[in-house]
Amino acid sequence: MVERPKILVTQKVPDPAYPPLEAIGDVDANKEEGVIWSYAELLRRGPGHDYIYSLLTDNIDAEFLEACTATTPRLKMVANMAVGFNNIDIEVATRLGIAVSNTPGVLSDTTADLAFALLMATARRIPEAEHFLRAGKYTGWGPLLFCGAEVHHATLGLIGAGRIGKIVAKRASGFDMKIIYYKAHRMSREDEETYRMTYMPIEDVLRQADFVSIHAPYMLATHHLIGERELMMMKPTAILINTARGPIVDEKALVKALQNGIIAGAGLDVFENEPAVEPELLTMENVVLLPHIGSASLKTRTLMATMASDNLVAHYEDKRPPNILNPKVLGYSFF
Ligand code: GLV
Repeated sequence: MVERPKILVTQKVPDPAYPPLEAIGDVDANKEEGVIWSYAELLRRGPGHDYIYSLLTDNIDAEFLEACTATTPRLKMVANMAVGFNNIDIEVATRLGIAVSNTPGVLSDTTADLAFALLMATARRIPEAEHFLRAGKYTGWGPLLFCGAEVHHATLGLIGAGRIGKIVAKRASGFDMKIIYYKAHRMSREDEETYRMTYMPIEDVLRQADFVSIHAPYMLATHHLIGERELMMMKPTAILINTARGPIVDEKALVKALQNGIIAGAGLDVFENEPAVEPELLTMENVVLLPHIGSASLKTRTLMATMASDNLVAHYEDKRPPNILNPKVLGYSFF
């Protein structure tokens, strides 16, 4: 008899994710909503599973992966319910023959919506104005009351322009924005025309943009891509939006830039040391802060959750997981 695989699900995920897993294996799941296991807890629970269904809050590092391959059963796959996979040491996973998958595409529109919402909220000072009203301070319409920055016809500078960045550009077109972008690998001319985006070196994007919005993946090459030097290049009226990954921005340098009027504001959905936030940011009114909710609509989170299950089940059934990131561990080529 073939043994049922042991599957660990590290956080409570939308319900439709579980039945496909339960149909093939024994599922050991953290079902307490909002409870995120510490690294020590993960290390205690992980070894002894064939599959780990992970979330971006799980630090799947070399030590963890090695511990999970020193046991029987040996870990075969990490199915991450996120498009970003910087929480997983993919090099070590590949060396150990562990497959890794992510959930691209299904969250692009929703994340682009949030990026645009954050841009609008920061530019037009929506949270600040709302708090003012709720605090009973609204005594009447005023010509100077909460004047913010204009979004329409402004210049949007995208740092990174993959699936999400391109959709943000589409949203921005509706606001008649001029869209400039920087990307490590320039897009095709055809895509540039379709999305009405003009390529520039990063320095020019930073110098010209009224809004700089980050849509790059986090990796060694993008660590602190936006630091003191880059912030200094931005206009004093510019606003920085980050819905990608926190460590792409040097958060301490950002605090200084905001304190010294180097830039005008920031809208952040991600932080360098999540869930910690630089304390000064919490006191600034020209900053809008969100708890990493880029893809947070129930529909999108459900699509992401079932996609992660589908990847895991495909591996179990000896099929190519649709979103495998290191296909060579299963003997597949990239495409
Ligand atoms: C969210 O940040 C994701 O990577 O899916």
